[in-house]
Amino acid sequence: MSVHSHIRKVTTHVLSEMKMKNEKISMLTSYDYSMARIVDESGIDVILVGDSASNVMAGHESTLPITLDQMIYHASSVVRAVKRALVVVDMPFGTYQGNSKEALSSAIKIMKEASADAVKLEGGSEIKESIDRILSAGIPVMGHLGLTPQSIHKFGTYTVRATQQDERDKLIKDAKLLEETGCFAIVLEKIPAELATLVAKEVSIPVIGIGAGGGVDGQVLVIHDMLGITQEFSPRFLRRYHNLSAEITGAVKNYIEDVKSNDFPNEKEQY
Ligand code: KIV
Repeated sequence: MSVHSHIRKVTTHVLSEMKMKNEKISMLTSYDYSMARIVDESGIDVILVGDSASNVMAGHESTLPITLDQMIYHASSVVRAVKRALVVVDMPFGTYQGNSKEALSSAIKIMKEASADAVKLEGGSEIKESIDRILSAGIPVMGHLGLTPQSIHKFGTYTVRATQQDERDKLIKDAKLLEETGCFAIVLEKIPAELATLVAKEVSIPVIGIGAGGGVDGQVLVIHDMLGITQEFSPRFLRRYHNLSAEITGAVKNYIEDVKSNDFPNEKEQY
């Protein structure tokens, strides 16, 4: 039986209830219709149309090059497939950082053209004005602290964040600020597990971790990484649930062999 026949649509309120009930939140990325349909029908709580699309879909080195229109293309494909999960869309680099009016118009474009449920922005106090303005239009906002890949050129590496006292203090302050501002959840990426656990206890909104240990309210992974489609990316926090790259290679090799040997198509596979 499909999960859609007996489970209600996940909303930001449902996620808040899940935190109160101590029920863990599951979140994965998706970027296209077919994958989003499988992920949603499997019963995931939240689908993130991450700007990691820039890496895994487009092959860029970082998340910086992806544009607002490209994110909207991915997001609208995902939304068409999803019946149950909450769909959150990353606001791409350059669409919200400097100017809160531009941030609002970018968020409105995502909501109108992709019919998303919420947007996600990277950063804390530096982007408070943008978050305020987006929230004032009734658009739910998910925060993202710790390793924020859109700031890679500021930090220079993708190593664990908030290991020093000053960065740690700022992260705790930013998490509380995001909560007070009205964000409905926060992603914490690649920080010490003990710090993430503390933040999840200190704020009342759900905290979803990636490389942030098991003491938070939920977990998120990039679908291409957890399915083993990507091969080169192997951080300690990544659990691979499949080796899809090997499976696809095997299938493609079999197909090539069948075409070359004239085994495909056979008599039943033609008109
Ligand atoms: O873009 C993305 O996939 C993300 C997750 C890693 C949280 O932001």
